[in-house]
Amino acid sequence: MMTTSLVSLRQDDGIAVITIDNPPVNALSQAVRQGLAETIEAIAADNTVRGAILICAGKTFVAGADIREFGKPPAAPMLRDVITRLEALDRPVVAVIHGTALGGGFELALGCHYRVMDKDAVVGLPEVTLGIIPGAGGTQRLPRLIGMAASIDMITSGRRADAREALKLGMADAIAQGDLLMSAKNFLAAKIGSPVRRLSERPPTAAASAIFAEAGKPVAARARGQISPVRALDLLEETASSNFAHGMAREAEVFTGLRNSDQARALRYIFFAEREISKIPEADAKPRIVAQLGVIGGGLMGTGIAAAALLAGLDVTLVERDAASADLAKSRALGLLKGSVERGKLAQTDYDAIAASRLRSTASYAELSSADLVIEAAFEDIAVKQAIFRELDKVTKPQAVLATNTSYLDVGAIAATTARPENVIGLHFFSPAHIMKLVEVVVPPEAQADAVATGFALGRKLGKITVRAGVCDGFIGNRILSAYRKQAEYLMEDGASPAEIDAAFRSFGLPMGVFEMQDMAGLDIIWANRKALATRRDPSERYVRIVDILCERGHFGRKTGSGYYNYAGKAPVPDEEALAIIAQERRRKGIVPRHFTADEIMDRILLAMINEGSHILDEGIALRSSDIDVVMVNGYGFPRWRGGPMFMADQMGTRETLRRIEAHATDDAFFWKPSALLKRLSEMGSSFGTH
Ligand code: 3HC
Repeated sequence: MMTTSLVSLRQDDGIAVITIDNPPVNALSQAVRQGLAETIEAIAADNTVRGAILICAGKTFVAGADIREFGKPPAAPMLRDVITRLEALDRPVVAVIHGTALGGGFELALGCHYRVMDKDAVVGLPEVTLGIIPGAGGTQRLPRLIGMAASIDMITSGRRADAREALKLGMADAIAQGDLLMSAKNFLAAKIGSPVRRLSERPPTAAASAIFAEAGKPVAARARGQISPVRALDLLEETASSNFAHGMAREAEVFTGLRNSDQARALRYIFFAEREISKIPEADAKPRIVAQLGVIGGGLMGTGIAAAALLAGLDVTLVERDAASADLAKSRALGLLKGSVERGKLAQTDYDAIAASRLRSTASYAELSSADLVIEAAFEDIAVKQAIFRELDKVTKPQAVLATNTSYLDVGAIAATTARPENVIGLHFFSPAHIMKLVEVVVPPEAQADAVATGFALGRKLGKITVRAGVCDGFIGNRILSAYRKQAEYLMEDGASPAEIDAAFRSFGLPMGVFEMQDMAGLDIIWANRKALATRRDPSERYVRIVDILCERGHFGRKTGSGYYNYAGKAPVPDEEALAIIAQERRRKGIVPRHFTADEIMDRILLAMINEGSHILDEGIALRSSDIDVVMVNGYGFPRWRGGPMFMADQMGTRETLRRIEAHATDDAFFWKPSALLKRLSEMGSSFGTH
């Protein structure tokens, strides 16, 4: 019948088939909305059409509004109006969903009179994760379809539901059997002639106010300062009894208000930043095939990596130092996977196959002869790691990539102990590795491009956010962590208590404070690292001994019952002995403790992150400033809705960042050394203004 470049319409025996074809994800750009609007009018005017099907070309149904348009003024036709016109058609329209129907895409499907889903498809309203709320009727149509309680869950979390759940909740009317389009046509055939059912014509849900009261606390707690989930809940409550038109008008107001907010800008930035990370110098190299993975070390990290790989379909051989440890490592990894079965992330049959044959454990390196990639996750000691790599070099295939999971050590120095330094990289996972989303691929200078590409491909296969880093102490993430941990120690010695500092972290939006985190990770690990670095430390640098003293006295944090906090009771409380050590250290250094506000604390912590991040960028350790933000958000709990420290620095401007550092530097000039920022400022020269 008619075709625009992105939306086409054909008729098959009285059935109109609308196809959206806007690769890669069929986002609803202005041109697509325009094409849809014209197509809908064509159908409305054509009496020979008895029913319609809305389907998408390519790998997915519409994945949402075009996020790239959000920073620009809205352009007609508006999506909500297009959907209203679609729903108003007087012949049945079926949405045929494959891939992901998200945000505006799912709202488009809700404007259709029925939804047929492919068995592997998912639906969801992820708008809150972008700092907005559904803006094309989602907050009004979904409750009328599946009820308020389920809608609150879907909309305030932004989570996706698979086809089975969608069918159960009523978001899908059928799951396709066999060919998707054929299935949808058969479904439609049975509906032709019956009156169409429009969600907008259903009465409001009139949910009990108790539902909202109950949801309020967990939604706010999960949001940790992010406003969109809270606004979404407020809007659902406010419009629960409203007529449809009023609900739509209020939705549009709230949506528009949030669209240009700082939080939405930051969340859009990090969304695209997470997609930039794969643009690496090695992007064109062909990754080697990795089917067999070896893991050295059956501790928390090794077994977590093994579990992540098994979940992604790889076969794993775990190597430990003796048979008993190997058995223990296997049962530990299986224990993690049992948790995955319980959480519905792994089918029982897959678990059984893993336990029977896909996961092996051994004390013999020789069993790694067929491994395509080996990850060493042994004790964090360079001599231990070098000995392992010498061994691996002897037993593995020459083309096998050898990776170390070190979190601080020099990957180049480890690679140098092998005859194939070009095949050695760092793969820095975060614990627990089968849950945490981040991996740093650490690239020593000798590494070959295809070895690096293989590391990246593995990270992606494991479903990880994979960021390239150069070699230095701590790479991107732990180097910044060291900097702000040091600053937190200075603050502690100067007068703030660990609990005050931790509270400031939490009110900033981090899930936990730096001292709680250390207690959880184990102070002994930090202690070992400090001892390893002791010889390289500049003697003129200010050094806080508090954690060393705690460790000397056997207080390693949670694992020993005390550290900065005491864990004897139901809830952790500040540990008296730790407080006494702090007081004693202040006296020894002649420091008169002073008060710090939460804002002052976080200002220093943030500036410490930015300052170190600037050096990391300047030295080429990170490829882009946004890569640093991706690491901080996904590995260290930096609030996503703030975009990341480097994004915040850009918002603040380099001149202002430096001014604020200067204000703090009177205390610890040695710490700050903002040379990278100064360099950036001078590079900007006279054009400097907004940055
Ligand atoms: N708008 C613009 N571009 C988008 C986009 C969108 N909604 N979704 C994805 N893209 C782009 C990506 O930036 C990427 O571009 P690049 O190749 O230039 O880097 C490309 O499409 C492919 O995306 P992915 O790399 O993410 O591909 P995957 O296959 O891994 O994932 C996806 C596909 C699950 C659809 C994922 O891209 C995604 O989650 N997209 C966002 C979905 C979303 O949040 N939708 C809601 C938008 S807000 C909205 O709809 C408001 C409404 O209520 C009015």
